[in-house]
Amino acid sequence: MSTATESRSVDVCIIGGGMIGLAVAAELVRRGREVCVLEATVGSADAAARTAAGMLAPVSEADLSHPELTRLSLASAAIYEQWAQDIAARSGLDTGYEATGTLIVALHRDHMAEIEHLRAFQHDRGLAPEPVTRREIRELEPALANAIGGIRVPGDRQIDPRRLLAALRETVTRAGSTVREGVRVTAIHSDGPSNLVEFEEQGATQTMHAQLVVLAAGAWSGQVAASGLALPMRPVKGQALRLRGERLLHHVVRTPDVYLVPRTDGELVVGATMEENGFDRDSRAGDVLDLLVEATRALPGVRELTLMECNIGFRPALRDHLPAIGEARPGLMVATGHFRDGVLLAPITARLLGDLICDGRSDPLLAAFAPGRFQAVEARA
Ligand code: GLY
Repeated sequence: MSTATESRSVDVCIIGGGMIGLAVAAELVRRGREVCVLEATVGSADAAARTAAGMLAPVSEADLSHPELTRLSLASAAIYEQWAQDIAARSGLDTGYEATGTLIVALHRDHMAEIEHLRAFQHDRGLAPEPVTRREIRELEPALANAIGGIRVPGDRQIDPRRLLAALRETVTRAGSTVREGVRVTAIHSDGPSNLVEFEEQGATQTMHAQLVVLAAGAWSGQVAASGLALPMRPVKGQALRLRGERLLHHVVRTPDVYLVPRTDGELVVGATMEENGFDRDSRAGDVLDLLVEATRALPGVRELTLMECNIGFRPALRDHLPAIGEARPGLMVATGHFRDGVLLAPITARLLGDLICDGRSDPLLAAFAPGRFQAVEARA
């Protein structure tokens, strides 16, 4: 393998062209910075967001153990519509943003108990989902033949993550910045006041100088060697299905076992498994069967749809399942570990990191997500 050093020096190098990397890139170009995004695959093929369904559900997905994450999620949901409109305007591309609302439905007594527990917890957090009866569900969504009750979250939204990825990328390149694909970054070296980024491209090892580096490589972030950084990252595999046919639903529908995300163009996304199996890329028949069984239990009409795709994505999970957003050391920023919430958290991550990079302002919302929080533990290990 040959080694070459590029003479070109970039202002900001963003490692990762998935949802978070591109959202940060779009924010920085809006603020007048020039960025170079380095993406390992072509067309963000490995991005978790290509598999993601695109639920924007800070209330429905509120996590029991992390109030800081709920706060960050609500802050992101609050700016989402305006952010999506801005990206659509700057790129000239539709993002599929929709005010769908979520119905969380029970198909039997155990589901009902789980949903009651979720509702009590949401209530404690000051969130107020509305209970809905079997009859009300039937009126809202006649195709949900087996629902016995549940809750409704009218404020939840959805977006099409694939369209959003394309729009973010177009936003960045239209502004004159670069998205370079097929580039696998292996290390970030501190080089005085700047950084030397080492990467492999077409069989050759190359390097590039960057004033600032943003590490946003999702589940692969732990594979980039960087002085002053310790990220205990693991991939949590998710399989999801894309079906197509008659539109059966108007809300996003969840049971405790499956979620169903309808789009206006007739697509229905069914998700998703949670698997601890490293970067295993096989689509297993049993998992597809389980998703279809749970989907048809809730929505019998799924049987008539055409199965278009079985997708696999790798959620980036840090040990505490919280994202890492902020400065790792001078000149090195981190935006990764968004686990199940990358699509929802993209705007707030971009906005707050933009404030930090361009104005030196650290929002208190970021306090729980410092990238250095694992440093001492990793050093002892
Ligand atoms: N946010 C949904 C999932 O990770 O499956």
